[in-house]
Amino acid sequence: MSDLETLKDNLLADVTAAGDEAAIEAVRVNALGKKGSISELLKTLGTMTPEERQTRGAAINALKTDVFAAITARKSELKDAAIAERLARETVDISLPVRSSPAERGRIHPISQIIDEITAIFADMGFSIAEGPDIETDYYNFTALNFPEGHPAREMHDTFFFNPDANGERKVLRTHTSPVQIRTMEAQKPPIRIIIPGKTYRQDSDATHSPMFHQVEGLVVDTKSNVANMRWILEEFCKTFFEVDNVTMRFRPSFFPFTEPSFEVDIQCDRSSGPIVKFGEGTDWMEILGCGMVHPNVLRAGGLDPDVYQGFAWGMGLDRIAMLKYGMPDLRNFFDADVRWMSHYGFRPLDMPTLFGGLSA
Ligand code: DAH
Repeated sequence: MSDLETLKDNLLADVTAAGDEAAIEAVRVNALGKKGSISELLKTLGTMTPEERQTRGAAINALKTDVFAAITARKSELKDAAIAERLARETVDISLPVRSSPAERGRIHPISQIIDEITAIFADMGFSIAEGPDIETDYYNFTALNFPEGHPAREMHDTFFFNPDANGERKVLRTHTSPVQIRTMEAQKPPIRIIIPGKTYRQDSDATHSPMFHQVEGLVVDTKSNVANMRWILEEFCKTFFEVDNVTMRFRPSFFPFTEPSFEVDIQCDRSSGPIVKFGEGTDWMEILGCGMVHPNVLRAGGLDPDVYQGFAWGMGLDRIAMLKYGMPDLRNFFDADVRWMSHYGFRPLDMPTLFGGLSA
């Protein structure tokens, strides 16, 4: 066998053995690349006599043509195989049920839902939302709200205190949303009509208390605001929130340092049928909020003249009214982040509560 025939046999064997596109490319470079075996042979053509060129030259060219054809054919075979393999690997089982989209599966936490509901109700009455920091100074949380230094009401709040800073000041995790009353009065002149939903903190933990809980505060300051206005607003709120035509409310005298007079408000209800309390009927009473006329010292702390301005305020725990409205037995579940609880008690994200479309529809 001539050297050319041997080379051809070897190259064709390499072509057949090439198992993928990279391997066949290596065979091509080996044979036909710049320094390939056939390319080296072609370089010898220039040194041949015309007779040699006719025989050996023609044989080298034929070798090149054959090997090139074999490589091209194998290349396209391997390419087709690679595509077929990829198609097989990437098949999609279209018989699988479609997984619902995150917008479909996601749920709004009942507390967020309640805040949206309350916001919708008070926005309709011309209130806007105010917010303040969770980490408060002792001044805003207590002093400006007319808690005297050393007053026992400071202890009643089971406050979380921070370590004193360089100036000896001890910040607190706010024990109520009331500090935002002062911050708002400092920042804007009356008429003020705001609600303040937010997180609050006290050292307390059981089935109905959590160290972090939520309140919504309300504040109205004007030159003529009075208890009758407050009562109407709170009654309208309760009817709309609990989605009943009528509510009976009872205002009991009470004490808060920041209001005078102060009241605790009970709402008539029926507790006879389990965890979901019915409002607007029944013979039981349930306390739902504290309220009163803003104390002159609090107006002064907010930079307002109590001889010109008067106001009323209220504060309500959100977690408990969420439990009441939606029949959730244990507050601790609210903050467990258990996806099963959320998919049961949560709300669909696209069902925004509105007064015309329904609050909890
Ligand atoms: N800050 C009170 C608390 O945390 C609730 C409260 C009562 C707020 C009466 C008020 C109010 O604005 O007037 O228990």
